Amino acid sequence: MASRDDIASLNKDFYLSKSAAAWYAEKEFVMPEEQAFLRDYELALKGCSLLDMGIGAGRTTRFLLPLVGDYRGFDYSEEMVRAAAARFPGVKIEERDARDLSAYGEASFDVVLFSFNGIDCLSHQGRLQVMSEVKRVLKPGGIFAFSSHNREKPKTLPQDLSNLNRSKNPVRMIKNLIEYWQGIRNWKRSLHCAEETDSYELRHDSSNGFKAPIYYIRKSHQVAQAATQGFAVEAIYNGKGQPTTVEESDTASSWIFYACRKSA
Ligand SMILES: C[S@@+](CC[C@H](N)C(=O)[O-])C[C@H]1O[C@@H](n2cnc3c(N)ncnc32)[C@H](O)[C@@H]1O
Repeated sequence: MASRDDIASLNKDFYLSKSAAAWYAEKEFVMPEEQAFLRDYELALKGCSLLDMGIGAGRTTRFLLPLVGDYRGFDYSEEMVRAAAARFPGVKIEERDARDLSAYGEASFDVVLFSFNGIDCLSHQGRLQVMSEVKRVLKPGGIFAFSSHNREKPKTLPQDLSNLNRSKNPVRMIKNLIEYWQGIRNWKRSLHCAEETDSYELRHDSSNGFKAPIYYIRKSHQVAQAATQGFAVEAIYNGKGQPTTVEESDTASSWIFYACRKSA
């Protein structure tokens, strides 16, 4: 039987696929919480050295490149790196795993970003490893920004009928039924990787077709976890891009965006 640490490899398998890379290659939006971060941290971002981790097909590259002074991006999926490099020729885009930043020296970057919940693809241990590496490569007072799935949001099981998309087109509807059934099958196959603790949960959701659990955490626990890893969370944004606090309820937000500063 596979171990709990396999959530990293199961998630990686998903992002290695050509179809996932093609899906991300079409994305050009800037999320509301990212817009809020760009607005509130404009001065810190202008001309900075930035490490963009888990860039997928380069959605964030598009809007960060004109803003920062020195841009470096990476992803652990070869397919994603290929798609991003094709979109941005000449830009420093590499294949790398966020758990091992040994390619970069201590205090190399002003800002490190892990957007769109990329950090949630890892086990708890893997997540702490990323944070420790980010702390090492950030300059004193540097910023680590990332988003992470919100444990306050009620969970849905693959069997829930809300996961079955309806269509009047019979061919489309058959495809939807197959996807729904595949979601249940995927969930059963990777159920042994799910985990619930007081401070976090490895929970399945439809974003990867229930192929692997994803890390979910409450805001208060994320702030505490960041502190143990040497970061002070100084801004939190909900899914609408509104500043929020650990006390406020954000059950409608699928994920939460955190801006942390490396503690002295
Ligand atoms: C949800 S996608 C987001 C992609 C991109 N950041 C965006 O916002 O469009 C998560 C990305 O993180 C990458 N990723 C997950 N874990 C990673 C790791 N340990 N090292 C590098 N990349 C990782 C995945 O390959 C995937 O491209």
